[in-house]
Amino acid sequence: MNIRPRINRWTASRRNLINGGTILSSLVQPHFVVAGEQIDEPIRGMPGIHQQSVDVLLKTVEEDASYGLKAVMLFGVVAHEHKDARASYAHDTSSHLHQAIYALKKAHGDDLVVMTDVCLCTATEHGHCGLVHDREIINDASVNVLVNIALSHAKAGADYVCASDMMDGRIDSIRSAFEKNELTGSGILAYSVKYASSFYGPFRHAAQSSPGFGDRTTHQMDVRSGYEEAILEANLDESEGADIIMVKPGLPYLDVLRKVADSVVRPVAVYNVSGEYSMVMNAADDEASRQHMVVEVLTAFKRAGANVVVSYHAREAARKRWVN
Ligand code: PBG
Repeated sequence: MNIRPRINRWTASRRNLINGGTILSSLVQPHFVVAGEQIDEPIRGMPGIHQQSVDVLLKTVEEDASYGLKAVMLFGVVAHEHKDARASYAHDTSSHLHQAIYALKKAHGDDLVVMTDVCLCTATEHGHCGLVHDREIINDASVNVLVNIALSHAKAGADYVCASDMMDGRIDSIRSAFEKNELTGSGILAYSVKYASSFYGPFRHAAQSSPGFGDRTTHQMDVRSGYEEAILEANLDESEGADIIMVKPGLPYLDVLRKVADSVVRPVAVYNVSGEYSMVMNAADDEASRQHMVVEVLTAFKRAGANVVVSYHAREAARKRWVN
């Protein structure tokens, strides 16, 4: 079975994220999780966003939740000594990312939607999103690793695994693996329409995931490509069993977001990426102007058809009650 419509209804927090209708209910806060204890390290270019160890992460998420921010997206930052050619650490169940999933689920259970990034780039020594052979990213062997990562996250308790790699056929393979493992309630968010954008710079610094050679243009979408390709990718992931379809980045692609939202049946998410965040943080003179810019940006995503909005602005917007 490819499609399990119950997945998006499984918990009250999933239903609220997708169908809540308000800006606050739609928000997902990204987090960069590092190994160690009491680490709360500011990230260059992303004021207000820190790399955090699991203990600090737990406190941050608890406070966010008290302001109604009840969904997180976790990125595991992998230390240099754990990186290898096969991204082994990404599916090592003793990793700090897996500990974070267990700990958040233990603390919040069904009251929090835990999403996890599934890609190879943070754990490969070359920083590419797939396995590399003769300087080429090979597709199908990379999908096998992605499946292992997704399975390890789902078994740890993630609500949604979020495939951000842009390999062909990975949603189908992850869904089949979930079926075989009786993970009938585990969701898949597909980064379906993900461009080879220049707006990911601050993130790659935060996640230590820059490619050591070349770029991501052989798998992420050409920024010049038309709506047809966006709709093809979205429809493919939907038919392969994705529970949520994502468009990324957000602001330069609001037109694509609207087209995709009109073309698919499943809920749609948008990723307001690191470079977009930095632009707003740099452009606003003071808190009042930042508030207006953030609310305007988040409103635009809703107008363009997003059910779910992943944004680094989520925490400040929720805690200062700029949105409700
Ligand atoms: C991993 C991944 C990236 C982002 C999310 N998942 C970086 C990339 O594709 O290089 C970017 C997020 C952001 O810029 O905020 N593949």
